[in-house]
Amino acid sequence: MLKLENIEAGYTRQTIVLRGVSLEVPQGKIVTLLGANGAGKSTTLKTIMGLIDDEPRKGSVTFQGNTLTHKDTESIARSGIALVPEGRGMFKDLTVFENLMLGAYHHTATAQSTLQDVLKRFPRLEERKNQHAGTLSGGEQQMVAIGRALMSRPKLILLDEPSLGLAPKFVQEVFNAIASINAEGVSVMLIEQNAKKALEIADYAYVLEHGRIVLEGTGAELRENENVKELYLGMTHVPDSGVGRFRRKRRWN
Ligand SMILES: Nc1ncnc2c1ncn2[C@@H]1O[C@H](COP(=O)(O)OP(=O)(O)OP(=O)(O)O)[C@@H](O)[C@H]1O
Ligand SMILES: [Mg+2]
Repeated sequence: MLKLENIEAGYTRQTIVLRGVSLEVPQGKIVTLLGANGAGKSTTLKTIMGLIDDEPRKGSVTFQGNTLTHKDTESIARSGIALVPEGRGMFKDLTVFENLMLGAYHHTATAQSTLQDVLKRFPRLEERKNQHAGTLSGGEQQMVAIGRALMSRPKLILLDEPSLGLAPKFVQEVFNAIASINAEGVSVMLIEQNAKKALEIADYAYVLEHGRIVLEGTGAELRENENVKELYLGMTHVPDSGVGRFRRKRRWN
């Protein structure tokens, strides 16, 4: 459904962040991208959404057979991809309702019925519809961020660390929401520091180190991998694992 081939991207001409990233999100699946801080996970999502000017400098992004490379963010969103950005991207002085409606900008005709679906999914937001988003708890803000993405009725949702900084109860709620959104047919690309939970929920996973995919496999395969166990499991915050730990890319059949 989504395919990245040999993506090279960065923020300045002199520096490169993604050094030939290839990955796929098949229709209806949950794919997770793990990696240490600074590995290039958010950059991968920003590149998909066309949020970095003139990037990618090499490679291609295709979605349902159509190229997205160098399209503008608006048309990428219109093609059916929604991003829940790192840090949630709340408009703190707008109400919950206003934040949600911003996500419906190219679906105005169906906005009301989509809104009802979103509020049914997150009843807590229904109660707080008229509250300023800035006064919500972190977990509630994350629900608004996910809800806003759903307002565009996406076929694929990209989630950048949705559980970061949340209390365990909210972490579970966020993962439950991801599972149920996926069960309704939305494909998911998930970035998470909580590798344990991400690998439990994911059909397939990639590990990114220093801008390269160094490991990939099913969620179950990666959970059993010794390097993954050592570096990514049982930790909520992953320290930089150092260059070359995963020097060889392994593939599973
Ligand atoms: N706007 C920017 N301008 C310049 N460099 C940037 C910018 N955003 C990110 N970078 C650099 O790109 C590299 C990858 O950053 P990125 O945000 O993709 O990492 P990440 O894997 O998402 O990390 P984290 O787990 O900390 O969110 C880092 O070295 C970072 O400093
Ligand atoms: Mg990031």
